Amino acid sequence: MGKMIHLARPELKALYSRLGGEAALQRILEDFYRKMAADPMIGFFFHGQDLERIARAQKTFLMRAMGATSSYSGKAPAQAHDALPPILPGHFDRRLRILEETLRAHGLAAEDIRIWINFENAFRDGIVSEDH
Ligand code: HEM
Repeated sequence: MGKMIHLARPELKALYSRLGGEAALQRILEDFYRKMAADPMIGFFFHGQDLERIARAQKTFLMRAMGATSSYSGKAPAQAHDALPPILPGHFDRRLRILEETLRAHGLAAEDIRIWINFENAFRDGIVSEDH
């Protein structure tokens, strides 16, 4: 968990306040997980999962990264997916595309979308399965 501390970056903190804080983040994530669960390519990862719980865990994680809170007690992204089928590069790209569409639909500026996507993309190597 300590590893995540250096990931709280000033540009993410500014983004968090521009986007409207926790309530706005909550709405964005609910939408994001709904879209992912309905997606033909990556929806299967979420079948039978409690989307609200995952969205809540993701919100806590992002609020720590965005400097809105000082702690996160959930799993690190590289460990959070151990019980899932292998996440392949195409799955990871598809998730980023859906994230981009969701952020655009919620009215975020192009620069804020870029900052958010870059942050999430930094977790790619820890999440994408190396066997494929
Ligand atoms: C294609 C890519 C991804 C898929 C399919 C995916 C899917 C999932 C699923 C199904 C869970 C629930 C797992 C469980 O509780 O057993 C989960 C949890 C989580 N994911 Fe992802 N994820 C992806 C990428 C990411 C990325 C890029 C991040 C971070 C930037 C991330 C952060 C998290 C966190 C923080 C949790 C919650 C951990 C906890 O419960 O403590 N995920 N993800």
